[in-house]
Amino acid sequence: MFMGKSTISIHGHEYYDEVYGVRITPIFLTSMFEQPDRRTGETRVVEGGRELKYSREENPTTRYLEKVIARLEEGEDAIAFNSGMGAITATLLSELQQGMKVIIPMESYSGTIALLNSISEKMNLKIEKIFPETEDILEAINGGADLLIIETITNPTLRVIDIREVAKACSDSNTKVIVDNTFATPILYSPLSEGASIVLESATKYLAGHNDVIGGVVSSNRQKISSIWEWRKLTGTIMQPFEAFLVQRGLKTLSIRFEAHSKSAMAVAEFLQEHPKIEDVYYPGLSSSPYKNKADKLFKKKLYGGVVSFKVKGGRSSALSVLRRLKMIVPSPSFGGPESLLTYPVISASKYIPPEDRDRLGISDNLLRLSVGLEDVEDIIEDLDKALRSGA
Ligand SMILES: Cc1ncc(COP(=O)(O)O)c(C=O)c1O
Repeated sequence: MFMGKSTISIHGHEYYDEVYGVRITPIFLTSMFEQPDRRTGETRVVEGGRELKYSREENPTTRYLEKVIARLEEGEDAIAFNSGMGAITATLLSELQQGMKVIIPMESYSGTIALLNSISEKMNLKIEKIFPETEDILEAINGGADLLIIETITNPTLRVIDIREVAKACSDSNTKVIVDNTFATPILYSPLSEGASIVLESATKYLAGHNDVIGGVVSSNRQKISSIWEWRKLTGTIMQPFEAFLVQRGLKTLSIRFEAHSKSAMAVAEFLQEHPKIEDVYYPGLSSSPYKNKADKLFKKKLYGGVVSFKVKGGRSSALSVLRRLKMIVPSPSFGGPESLLTYPVISASKYIPPEDRDRLGISDNLLRLSVGLEDVEDIIEDLDKALRSGA
């Protein structure tokens, strides 16, 4: 049977209770499990064969979520973490070895770069921070590297990277590639099917989708997931059952939510483009965007995500004044939920990018990043318009 991503997110791995006929995965709120099973004398296992004895290692609710994620991301297996950073930590600990050369775009998530820098001191890594354009990344791969860590869409300037070409270059030169797919989600793009070794996401964003859960997921082949699982166990970073339930619940509407976020984001981007108080708009769906062709080549649907960045005329004071004058949109540094959030990158994630790199990237004092929520788009536009017009 054909199974599209919406169907997989709902029926991708279903619970079935023999006694009551329950079809919704329960929250197995327990820290311990009977070991050994008194009927058989054996230790129980979850699907995939890992032992079920203690919820820091395995929990059935979490495992059900993982099986859905694996299918959505087109991997053989997946594991879930208590944060996106937990997922990145265990993945790096599993993949890195002493003295490796790692390349990473300078506009990557600040936590990833900070973690890599800290590990690097202990493991004598050679880290090369490169400009986040496909051509620069291909050049760096040609120069030789052991590992590339990359994001499908960069944050906050929303450059689209041609992961297909990058993954091909990596496979030709034996470079492992880890893709952070948080901004695109499996609805837009599946890096594993294009040759990425590992794909990870902060589930805090679109996957859970309601601004109320912190979580992370990693998908890959079975062997890599087993190795990352060992690090999850050692670092104690498994996603707990209540959060796993919420993420699985959120996933069931991921496809329609992502479509609604994307359509409203396009309308907001078009509105901002014409606004007299706006200097520049960054959104890969705009026909004027230099990334439109790449997005159309890579993304399965004609959708471009729910985040729009823009520069207001007048510098830092104007940007701060817009944030203060919002009535409905919340000034806050996250994205991917029903509430529209406006982020000021220079005081949040981009704060840690050195000023000279920020200049090259275009992350200036008047740049704002909007996570377009699920409110009526007319209300989002009106709130922005009023905040922009009454600003300094
Ligand atoms: C692209 C990206 N990856 C990873 C993370 C880290 O995820 P979490 O906040 O769930 O730890 C974030 C957080 O904002 C992010 O934006």
